[in-house]
Amino acid sequence: MRSMLVTGAAGFIGANFVRYVREQHPDDKIIVVDALTYAGNRHNLDGVLDDQCQLMHADINDTDYMKQLLRDHKINTIVHFAAESHVDRSITGPDAFIEANIMGTYSLLKAARQVWQIEEQAPEDHRFHHVSTDEVYGTLSMQDPAFTEETAYAPNSPYSASKASSDFLVRSYHHTYGMQVTTSNCSNNYGPYHFPEKLIPLVILNVLYGKALPIYGDGKNIRDWLYVEDHALGIDLVLQKGRVGETYNIGGCNEWTNIDIVNLICSLIDKRFETSQDLRNTYPECPASQGEASNSLITYVTDRAGHDFRYAIDTHKIQSELGYEPKVTFEVGIEKTLDWYLENSDWWQAVLDGSYRAEELSKAG
Ligand code: NAD
Ligand code: DAU
Repeated sequence: MRSMLVTGAAGFIGANFVRYVREQHPDDKIIVVDALTYAGNRHNLDGVLDDQCQLMHADINDTDYMKQLLRDHKINTIVHFAAESHVDRSITGPDAFIEANIMGTYSLLKAARQVWQIEEQAPEDHRFHHVSTDEVYGTLSMQDPAFTEETAYAPNSPYSASKASSDFLVRSYHHTYGMQVTTSNCSNNYGPYHFPEKLIPLVILNVLYGKALPIYGDGKNIRDWLYVEDHALGIDLVLQKGRVGETYNIGGCNEWTNIDIVNLICSLIDKRFETSQDLRNTYPECPASQGEASNSLITYVTDRAGHDFRYAIDTHKIQSELGYEPKVTFEVGIEKTLDWYLENSDWWQAVLDGSYRAEELSKAG
């Protein structure tokens, strides 16, 4: 049985991962550690927390507390999601990224080494799985082949540089101390609980309220999109069958320009509104409520500094070694995502109007 410490699981991907594990491996014990930064939200774990799955409000930089958790709960598996994750914020304020992504990962590695290896409280099979990003590989032109695990690191933003740095720290703990580590580098995720500063949820919510859809530069930048549950599936496979010391790329083989994806979301929303008086009543400011096309909101704005042009993932290794195959096609995943946002306005309204943060701050006293 696994006793897991999952960091950052009040955030988007971590929460979806915990939900996935609770469904697929109901015997696993899970301790979630999350600092509940602006991006963390305890409601992301509503319905899954109980005696077997607990949330601890703590910072991974608190090494002593991390050690105590590892001892108290006889943790044998760490899945490390906690990070500052938004590229734009890393451009305006890199400090938090260095603190959370580099120092935080180092703190967690130190705690794991102390408890698992120095105090030898590690069960023979322990695992430190580090969740990383394809952004560490830098940027591609249209002609370049997709990123493989052999592609040289060339991070371009403070975010990706901090993630690259954490990947190297994890690697070094395997090579130097023999810690049983794995790393996965994944492309852009989308799905439920995605914080509405990122492109897909931002566009959905702005359309509903008739707000401008900011497109950086010419909108031709390309991302590879993967439904978040398929990221959870990939991590689970790496945990179960991945070779210790290895890295695995995870992706959807699903490249889209930003402008195409924004147009697609607009047209899906327009279709929903055409057949639903209820939606038209609920969101009167949406262009579709006035018989207009939602993509009329598209507004080209100044490009992101250092904006990577294209990401693409070569998934050959995880496919051939671990049998990985994404289950949710983009056509299905984007509709499911739209459904989720339309059905869960309580979640995003509390995020947008600040009432969730106020609730959290009042708990902290
Ligand atoms: P997110 O911003 O939604 O969530 C991050 C979580 O980490 C939040 O709950 C936050 O409170 C927590 N956190 C931050 N600093 C912490 C600290 N010092 N101690 C404890 N908790 C802390 O991010 P996400 O999109 O869910 O990304 C999760 C991980 O996956 C990150 O490591 C990110 O680099 C990686 N990743 C993300 C994507 C993507 O498309 N979003 C793709 C590939 C990899
Ligand atoms: O590739 C994996 C990465 O994907 C993760 O490591 C990051 O944590 C995650 O945030 C994501 O990074 P991106 O920068 O690709 O995601 P974002 O949603 O911020 O932007 C997607 C694309 O859309 C990017 O080319 C920038 C563009 N964009 C974004 C926003 C928020 C816009 O044109 N307008 C916007 O308002």
